[in-house]
Amino acid sequence: MRVSQCLVLCLFVTATACSKSKPAPEADEPPAAAAPAPAASSGPNVAKAKEIFVQRCVACHGSTGHGDGPASATLDPKPRKFADPAWQKEVSDEYLEKIVKFGGAGVGKSAAMPSNPDLTDPQVIAGLRVVIRNFNTTN
Ligand code: HEC
Repeated sequence: MRVSQCLVLCLFVTATACSKSKPAPEADEPPAAAAPAPAASSGPNVAKAKEIFVQRCVACHGSTGHGDGPASATLDPKPRKFADPAWQKEVSDEYLEKIVKFGGAGVGKSAAMPSNPDLTDPQVIAGLRVVIRNFNTTN
């Protein structure tokens, strides 16, 4: 009898304490939105990869991945259109990540496609692969 009374009392106190203290922390706690989403800790870092694509790849590959960036005029061979569904089907994820990391020379393609040895984070490399995959018109 006593135990159950105590339980009820404890529950009541806890519930009251909770409902009272709820609105308060908002002011002191750092905003939760500033923390990166939990998914960012694993899997491709697409947000970072998009930034890098604009900084490093658009000059040759173009902002839509059509191989028509401002620096593409003198390239021979020219970069293909990433949108090409047949090509997208033909190439593996491993191949895409390898050429981004090691450059054209690393996979037997034109050395005009530069390597990116400073991109040591596999999640960023995987993110660039996702960026390239997203240009696929059949997506
Ligand atoms: C200086 C120009 C240049 C820059 C900058 C560049 N690329 Fe390339 N890229 C090329 C060329 C040229 C080819 C075609 C190579 C070939 O077909 O032999 C190519 C090919 C590729 C391919 C393979 C396409 C295929 O035909 O199999 C991928 C994927 C690729 N680039 C991704 C990237 C990414 C991602 C970046 C930025 C991190 C980047 N490239 C930066 C010139 C460039």
